[in-house]
Amino acid sequence: MDTATVAKQADALARAWSPPSAPPSWELTAAMFETLRDQPELLALLAEIPEDRLPPLLFSAATTFLVRRLEAEPLGRSYPVAGAPQPPLSPTFARDYHSFCLAHRDELLALCAEHRYQMSEPGRCAHLLPALALAAGSRDVALVDLGTGAGFALQLDRYRYVYRHPDGTRTTVGDDSAAVTIETEARGPRRLPLPSEPPRIVARAGVDTEPADLADPSIRAWLAACTPPEAGALTRFERAADVVLSNPVAVHRGDVVDALPGLIAELPSGTLVCLLDAYVHVFFEPEQLERFGRLLAEAGRDRDLDWISLDPLVPLGPSARRAVVDVHVPATILQRGRDGGVFGVLSRRAFRDGRDRASLLALGHPGGAWLEWLAPDG
Ligand SMILES: C[S@@+](CC[C@H](N)C(=O)[O-])C[C@H]1O[C@@H](n2cnc3c(N)ncnc32)[C@H](O)[C@@H]1O
Repeated sequence: MDTATVAKQADALARAWSPPSAPPSWELTAAMFETLRDQPELLALLAEIPEDRLPPLLFSAATTFLVRRLEAEPLGRSYPVAGAPQPPLSPTFARDYHSFCLAHRDELLALCAEHRYQMSEPGRCAHLLPALALAAGSRDVALVDLGTGAGFALQLDRYRYVYRHPDGTRTTVGDDSAAVTIETEARGPRRLPLPSEPPRIVARAGVDTEPADLADPSIRAWLAACTPPEAGALTRFERAADVVLSNPVAVHRGDVVDALPGLIAELPSGTLVCLLDAYVHVFFEPEQLERFGRLLAEAGRDRDLDWISLDPLVPLGPSARRAVVDVHVPATILQRGRDGGVFGVLSRRAFRDGRDRASLLALGHPGGAWLEWLAPDG
């Protein structure tokens, strides 16, 4: 890939993660991508990484991983530790980061070749929760997380949520003693349809072609490195990882589409089947998506079920035209994407008594920082 394209990607990431409105704790994340963007020698390194491996994201994760493993000084002093406040960003960060990357060039490129970039963000559960509550009503839920990664969404009823509304009020959902608190800013004119408590989940299962086993310290350390180096995000990741380890759920290793009919057939009858997908179907080929939709419709003839999707518009990038759930996306939203807006689309396809209805629910920040409700009828 050419260096100009990589520079553009690094620039877009700096702006997306740390817009002018972001708290100072996001300065380090922005500084990392800005240094990659501004240093020709670093851009040349990134250009060696194949485009489909997301060079700036993968390389920045590799640097965070290595800074922590080597306890690199002075660079490491700018990086947060879970549970502690964000340390101040060193005034020499850009210079130190640049030198570190060049000094460890080979190790960093080896890490990039060995790993893929995988962000596992429990914060996304703050987006899935209202959709799940809408779907469930008062019914018991059998939850299936498609492309579950580290399995954070399978625990979404075990976290506490704080939604900050535009008028300054807050709504809290979940147990006050929960180990993980996820805070989200509600945006836009519509009030979020929040439940008083999380839905009752009576069965859970995950599926992933490459489940991430948090019990393996090297996998956990890599996923932590893929989390932006912001104190809140890192603390959320580590605490949610402990919740996952304390509450094991069976995760089927395999392809979502192949596994779907079998997974649904095993769930207890009388429950509402809720299939979650967070940043998974966006990576499907059109034929795969079509096959998934067909299998879903077949299953939806026999029992009530919901597919709740949180995915960027497809195809990824400025030519995005549609949502992965076959639902109308207004031109104004497509335009927001073209104008550089970075968001996931929360949508839902519900099957009730054999009837099928798709709806567009909300837009949300990829890391869960904000949620803008769109659906007029909840
Ligand atoms: C970007 S990660 C998202 C993980 C998780 N849903 C989250 O939001 O933190 C995408 C996950 O989907 C999995 N995946 C992608 N395509 C898949 C497929 N066809 N079948 C099963 N898993 C898949 C990947 O292995 C990866 O763990």
